[in-house]
Amino acid sequence: MKHALKKLMTPNGKPKYLFFGGKGGVGKTSVSTATAVWFADHGYSTTIVSTDPTVSLSTMFHQEIPGDNLVPIEQVSNLCGLNINPTDAKGVFQSRLNNLMGQMGGILGGDAISTPCAEEMATFDQFVGFLENPKSQVIVFDTAPTGKTLRELAMPFDWAGYMEKQIREGKELAILMKMDESSLESLKRDKERYENALAVLRDPVDTIFSLVLLPERLPVEETQSAMTGLDKLGIPVQALVVNQTIETHVIEGNRFLAARAQLQSGYQTEIDQRFASLERARLPLLDHDISSLSSLREVGEFLYGTKERG
Ligand SMILES: Nc1ncnc2c1ncn2[C@@H]1O[C@H](COP(=O)(O)OP(=O)(O)OP(=O)(O)O)[C@@H](O)[C@H]1O
Ligand SMILES: [Mg+2]
Repeated sequence: MKHALKKLMTPNGKPKYLFFGGKGGVGKTSVSTATAVWFADHGYSTTIVSTDPTVSLSTMFHQEIPGDNLVPIEQVSNLCGLNINPTDAKGVFQSRLNNLMGQMGGILGGDAISTPCAEEMATFDQFVGFLENPKSQVIVFDTAPTGKTLRELAMPFDWAGYMEKQIREGKELAILMKMDESSLESLKRDKERYENALAVLRDPVDTIFSLVLLPERLPVEETQSAMTGLDKLGIPVQALVVNQTIETHVIEGNRFLAARAQLQSGYQTEIDQRFASLERARLPLLDHDISSLSSLREVGEFLYGTKERG
């Protein structure tokens, strides 16, 4: 199974975009960062992009990872990182919007600029940059929890529609206001950029969207609804990482662990049945957290390498 996951994610002549989504706290940062380290260690030029507003990537690598440019990760060759802060990104995005809309004499400006989704859109705008111009062979995204991710991904659809309307109505406005048409052209260019980026996200060879979940009731249900949501956007989920599984050899007669393991085993069966068409990998619950490079490598070995489950 782990070889199937590795095969799915390994670039074959073209860059691979690896997205990891899932409920809060299920292990997205651990799994995505471990994946990035594994591919970098195996000779692929790799980028890890986080949109987590906290500084988890920086903590993981004991190095400051900024939001405006890619930096090499000092301890791992072939690996670069970027930690997009959605609030900062919003600033950049809004100033671009301001510029554009400002030319329309404020008639469209106010409402357009204060879109409540500007933050998600700004983050997506930075994603688009990577999708247009990949800087490495493997680009791993540690996305924010499911709901937010879905909003981020849904935005360009609204945005494309919004821009189409602006382009249509703007033409008349432009004539009325004797505005030059170059700003409309740049709207059209943005629309094209987003549409191309979405085509990459929807391509099951270019992009592997995986969901991380725990073998418990709520995460299983949430996984189903995330899959349905992504499916509506034309983005197939291709893999699941079932995290924090309790392995038989650690139980050693402990009744509490045995009960948890039995519960998990029921959900694992359900996961195997409900999501039979997806690649499924398991990551055992470790007796330490995943906050050092060696623990990230350990996770990578479990998911893609030689390390066996007990
Ligand atoms: N298999 C595991 N064994 C032991 N600890 C784990 C395992 N998976 C995750 N953890 C720990 O659980 C915590 C949450 O993991 P992580 O930060 O990767 O989740 P997340 O999904 O990124 O959370 P958030 O939604 O807040 O971004 C971390 O402290 C991590 O070290
Ligand atoms: Mg995280």
